Amino acid sequence: MNSILFLKTNCMNISVIAILSLVTIIDGYIINQSLPIKNNIRVARIANGEQFDQAYYPYVVGLKIQIVDEETYCTGTLVSPRFVLTAAHCIEGSSSVKVYQTDPRNEDGEKREVIELFMHSLYNDTSFVGDLCLLKISNPFKNITSYANISGNPELFANETSLKCFIFGWGKNEIGYPKYRANFASVWVKYGPNACEVPPDNYFIKDIVESTWKDFLCPVPNNRMACIGDSGGALVCQGFLFGVTSHGYNYYPEMGHLKTECGDTRVQTRYLFIVNYRDWINDHLHGTSSTIKFNHLMFILISIVRFLLSI
Ligand SMILES: *[C@@H]1O[C@H](CO)[C@@H](O)[C@H](O)[C@H]1NC(C)=O
Ligand SMILES: *[C@@H]1O[C@H](CO)[C@@H](O)[C@H](O)[C@H]1NC(C)=O
Ligand SMILES: *[C@@H]1O[C@H](CO)[C@@H](O)[C@H](O)[C@H]1NC(C)=O
Ligand SMILES: *[C@@H]1O[C@H](CO)[C@@H](O)[C@H](O)[C@H]1NC(C)=O
Repeated sequence: MNSILFLKTNCMNISVIAILSLVTIIDGYIINQSLPIKNNIRVARIANGEQFDQAYYPYVVGLKIQIVDEETYCTGTLVSPRFVLTAAHCIEGSSSVKVYQTDPRNEDGEKREVIELFMHSLYNDTSFVGDLCLLKISNPFKNITSYANISGNPELFANETSLKCFIFGWGKNEIGYPKYRANFASVWVKYGPNACEVPPDNYFIKDIVESTWKDFLCPVPNNRMACIGDSGGALVCQGFLFGVTSHGYNYYPEMGHLKTECGDTRVQTRYLFIVNYRDWINDHLHGTSSTIKFNHLMFILISIVRFLLSI
């Protein structure tokens, strides 16, 4: 449908999507079996991890996102007092977003409204290039004083070096949703043209992964992995934010390539390598971006439209 056209644009058009193309969203994420990568993107959660102490990682936040009549959850990372970095695919088509210091299912949790959001203009909902969104919150969380610092460099991964990194998320684990706890897990991460496993006989996925490798970090497949609700969360290497949880796919031949059970070692996940996006992030953090800031207004308009329709 018209989703690609809209998705290459800024937040105004993204808000329009919420009204116009609910069908596209449902198709893409749940029904359309011809787009396996896309199918799996909201299927993200941390399997076989363990609970972490929020005092050490206060910047890991939960997101509750309203997409038309659906409520969805993702994870985000505070990169400054007012800005949360997350994945564009989490926010695509949303009409409101709330940021939680705790589990986003915990209504009593400390939360903030998102007053502006900035979707990366290169976001491609098939390849997940540019799968990045910055959320500006209404006011800082009172007792958070440490924010994730962005770093990363392709040279760190030279000569097939893998780095030990950590993934974080408020999502599901291999059993179900752990109540009010966020998990983290260690993974070995690679970068390069052959860093991700690819399904040899699924050319759709193979072509995408091979042509977009520069944008992604690839954990070595393991039963410790991101699952539902972890999308948008942090990949932390050497104490710095290197990546944002994006999507996954089954790379194992002859298995249909679609099953993405949480904790299945046949699933390759990909994380957006944010080093290439640092200028864009800094421009927004420091308010030097030229993006027109009418997004809050769009949220209000959406609410009104929905109210009228619901009468
Ligand atoms: C999005 O990614 C797909 C797969 O790599 C590519 O075929 C398509 O041209 C991209 N769309 C745009 C608008 O760049
Ligand atoms: C933030 O402060 C509140 C109130 O003092 C406290 O209940 C909560 O546990 C604190 N959160 C963190 C992550 O330290
Ligand atoms: C990020 O950098 C600042 C300034 O150097 C530092 O105070 C802060 O602790 C760092 N954050 C983390 C999570 O390491
Ligand atoms: C990678 O290997 C090349 C050639 O063997 C060497 O010159 C270079 O220093 C190595 N780089 C790293 C980061 O180990």
